[in-house]
Amino acid sequence: MSVKILAIESSCDDTGAAVIVDGKVLSNHIANQKVHEQYGGVVPELASRAHQENIVPVVDIALQTAGVKREELSAIAFTQSPGLIGSLLVGSCFAKSMAMALDIPLIGVHHMQAHVLANFIDDPKPDFPFLCLTVSGGHTQIVLCESPLKMRVIGETLDDAAGEAFDKSAKILGLPYPGGPLIDKYAKTGNPARFKFPEPKIPGLNFSFSGLKTAILYFLQQQDPAFIAENMPDICASIQHRIVSILLNKVMKAAEETGIRDVAIAGGVSANSGLRQALAEYGDRYGWRTFIPKFEYCTDNAGMIAITAYYKYLAGDFVGLDAVPTARAAF
Ligand code: KG4
Ligand code: ZN
Repeated sequence: MSVKILAIESSCDDTGAAVIVDGKVLSNHIANQKVHEQYGGVVPELASRAHQENIVPVVDIALQTAGVKREELSAIAFTQSPGLIGSLLVGSCFAKSMAMALDIPLIGVHHMQAHVLANFIDDPKPDFPFLCLTVSGGHTQIVLCESPLKMRVIGETLDDAAGEAFDKSAKILGLPYPGGPLIDKYAKTGNPARFKFPEPKIPGLNFSFSGLKTAILYFLQQQDPAFIAENMPDICASIQHRIVSILLNKVMKAAEETGIRDVAIAGGVSANSGLRQALAEYGDRYGWRTFIPKFEYCTDNAGMIAITAYYKYLAGDFVGLDAVPTARAAF
């Protein structure tokens, strides 16, 4: 009998639902919340309310698109951690109710583990062991993956996440939230070598972005607004170049130390075109096989929750109806 899982993602400001059948993602639907744009960041209470509004229609569309009826489902999966607690509660309560009504198992998924496993939705897939640079709005990690459910963090940020480095730089430049994609857009026509921003000297495999943020702030304070507006592409390209080199130089160190040659990226920032291009260049230079999920599986989505849930289902890794979502959790 085939394994059919409905997966729900509600860790931050996007409500997602996906259906996976025998390891193949058949639908991946998302409702983005526009309400936060005017506040320059995600407002937790507004996010919880929007999840309440969106979750039923999003789940209906995911089931319809996949051509799967509720009664056929083998299990329900949800993002259990980390994330905004009010947002996580909406998804977990919904998943629990549905699992209870259908009398099927419940699967709790770690959002960061799911970002890594987004690399297993489509072919080609990395071989184990592989390294994954997971870069999102809340996290920056180098993860050593030994099997689908056995992974450990070997490097992480000491302050801001890579996505925050993009978003905060964009904010200083006066660009709207979330600024990461806008920096990417401007950078496409800019010269990355025009302005030099510092690369911090952090020992080991950890990252730091706070010094870069301060350097950008001081640099911009010394320029007049007209200069900034005229040179936006070069400024964005130079900022992006530095964030990307901070990230990939640490991955290079991790690859050297572990001898691992399969390198993947994941998380919202892996949608960045500068990072994608630089990963391919590092791969050519150092002999890595590189992997990047399809765009829709890079930013928050339920497809990645679904693929993780599939591996958990095969391993019999279920949670009880008393499972509690948590804002922070290691994996
Ligand atoms: O993984 P994600 O969708 O949500 C979290 O779990 O945080 O990542 C969101 C982050 C935001 O900081 C956003 O600015 C960044 O990913 N991002 C980008 C790009 N697309 C999304 N940053 C740089 N370039 C992009 N193209
Ligand atoms: Zn995420």
